[in-house]
Parts: sequence; structure tokens; C-alpha cells
Amino acid sequence: MYRLRQSKNKHSLEKTLKKALLTALATACLATTPLASHAAEPFKIGLIIPMTGPFASTGKQVEAAARLYMQQNGDKVDGRQIQLIVKDDGGIQPETTKRLAQELVVQEKVNVIAGFGLTPLAFAAAPIATQSKTPMVVMAAGTSSIMQKSPYIVRTSMTLPQTTAPLADWAAKNPNSHIKSVVTLVSDFGPGHDAEKVFTKRFTEGGGKILGNLRIPQQNPDFSPFLQRVKDLKPDAVFVFVPSGQGSTLMKQFAQRGLAAAGIKLIATGDVLDDDLLPSMGDEALGIITSQHYSTAHDSPENKAYVAAFRKLTNNSMRPNFMSVGGYDGMHLIYAALKKAGPNATGDQLLAAMKGASWTSPRGPMSIDPQTRDVVQNVYIRKAEKVDGQIYNVEFDKIEHFKDPGV
Ligand code: PHB
Repeated sequence: MYRLRQSKNKHSLEKTLKKALLTALATACLATTPLASHAAEPFKIGLIIPMTGPFASTGKQVEAAARLYMQQNGDKVDGRQIQLIVKDDGGIQPETTKRLAQELVVQEKVNVIAGFGLTPLAFAAAPIATQSKTPMVVMAAGTSSIMQKSPYIVRTSMTLPQTTAPLADWAAKNPNSHIKSVVTLVSDFGPGHDAEKVFTKRFTEGGGKILGNLRIPQQNPDFSPFLQRVKDLKPDAVFVFVPSGQGSTLMKQFAQRGLAAAGIKLIATGDVLDDDLLPSMGDEALGIITSQHYSTAHDSPENKAYVAAFRKLTNNSMRPNFMSVGGYDGMHLIYAALKKAGPNATGDQLLAAMKGASWTSPRGPMSIDPQTRDVVQNVYIRKAEKVDGQIYNVEFDKIEHFKDPGV
């Protein structure tokens, strides 16, 4: 009996000790796990961009700029390692972009998704950001309505209404433009529709006349028949938007169809006279007026340093264009948010830290509207001119701190 009790007591003592030990261990684990694992785990940025296909120049510009930002600012924020994971989505299939976003969030456990070369690709990834509460930094796409697709989206590129409205106003109100009638010619998808609607509205409100609205297929476009229609309509000018990467083909066909010779001016958003392609366009581009938020020739100390560093990093193989600053400033926004919210910040805390952020970019002053999460920036009116023997978009007017006016 005694022995039995003793053994029973021994047994319950063992049990009590074991329980106490387990509780202590669990408490210790709970207390240390988040810190220990966060310190060991890098902060991951999943960059989804077209590195191949017809829009590969966008991906190359964004990636080079993101790497430049990390080279200049280090790969640690407050002691936490920053890891950039680049995924090529090919730039065409929204399902591919969505799958990559899902894999990055679920398998890689990225803290931010970023990039998005075209509007349909940003639309496709938006539900993943919402479901996983992951901030999504749109560095390239420009349709106004992207912001409404997820409360986790923040944008560092531009919107087409934002870059188009100042040009429409300039053309309608500036007597030196000599433009009273316009035909619009845009790529037939989100940003093109925004550009067409906003140009038509603002130019008409300013007293101008729209003679036609033409839309060109987004993929593998043949501009020739459309340019012939423009020629037949005899406007003072044609207003064009095509996505970055298609501008040189458009310019070639514009010259071949003899529109300039027929007295029709070309005005466009800066996507058409993209700095990346401008050197290959030749003298046809000279004198063309465009509007955009960034030019390689932007005259500021920040931009001079940026262009020199970008050229060095890319072995002088390309000029930084507006897509590059979308990537560079997107990285700045992520770094700044992480610094403000702390190295263990959740997606919601990062997002809160991004709202209202402001800084000086190579493009000039910019900020993130705390309400809309969209980019606020200067939009410049530029003229293509030779500087030291090379053609650049030289800024001559600006609309400051301009918000997306919507469609
Ligand atoms: C877009 O798809 O939103 C887009 C793509 C290229 C541009 C501008 C906008 O140059």
C-alpha cells in the first residue's frame, strides 16, 4: 500500500514537473519566437514584372532601378535583411501574374508584392493583395481605376488622366499650340481608354474640337490603317497614347504615312516618346510635344545623380525612363514604410506608413495621397530637342503636385 502510494506520488510529481517544464518552455517560446524568427527571416519583396515578351523593356527598367536603390541604400533596414525576388510574368497573361502573386504570398511568404507592368496584370493580382493583407506597390501600370481594385494597392508610377489632362489643357488654351482640332488615337485597353476620355473632355472644355476617337489593338498593332484614317480626317493634331515599348513603330509609320508633311502635328503622352526608345527614333521625333511625370533630361541634382548611377549600373546600355523611376520610388516607399513602422511591421502597419509619405524623387517632388493611396506629382510639358547631339524630352512647363483627376 505504502509502496503503491509512494509510486503514485512519484508519478504525480513527475507529471507536475513535466507540466511545469512544458509550460515554461511554451512561455519561453512564445516570448522569443516572433523576435527570433523575424530577425532571422528576411523581409521579402516579390517583384512581378515582364522581363520577356513585347513589354520586356518595362521589366528591365524597373528591375535595374530597384537593384540600384538597394545598392545605394543597403540591403538591410533596421537590421532586417531585405530580399528582392524577381518573377517574370511575360507581360501578357493576367492569369500568370495572378499565379505568381499567389505563389509569392503563400510559398515565399513575401511581405510586399510589387511591379505590375500593365493594367490587366495589376487587376489580376489585386484580389491576392486583399485576401492576404499584403501591400501591393504598383510601379508601372497607369489606369486610374486600379486603385479601386484593392485597399492594399499603393501606386508610384502615374495615372493616364494625370499625365493627359495637362497636355489637353496646353493644346486647347495655348495659342502657340496652333491646335484647334484633334483626332485621338489610343491603344485599346485601360490606360488608352483613360487617355482618350480625359483628352476629349478637357480639350473640348477648353474650346477645341475632337474630329474622331480611334482605338488600336493593344497587341502587335499595325498603326498604318489608323494613321491613314487620321490623315483623311485632317485634324490640326493627332493625340496618341501607346504603351511604353511601342513608340518607335508608331513614329516610323507616322513618318511613312506622311502625316507631318500633310501638316498634322503629333502630340502624345510621354509613353510614346519613351526615353528608352527616343535615341532610336531619329530626327522625326524632333519638336514633338509630350506630357509626362519624368524625363531623363529633368534638370535637378537628384536626377543628374540618378541618371549617372543608372547608366553605370546598366553599363550605359539604356537611359532610365519613367518606368525606372516607378521602380526606384516604389523601393524608396517600401524602405521608408519599413523604417517608420518598424522591422516587424504587419502588412496593415506597412500600408498605414505608406499613406501620406512624401519625398524628392529623380522626377521631382512626389507623395502618396493618404486617402486614395495614389501618386501625387508634377506633370511636365516637354519638347523633343537635341542636347549635346542626342534627342531628349526637354521640360518647359509644369503643373505642380497634380493628383489623378479621374476619368
Ligand atoms: C498600363 O497598362 O497601365 C500601361 C502600360 C504602359 C504604359 C502606360 C500604362 O506606358
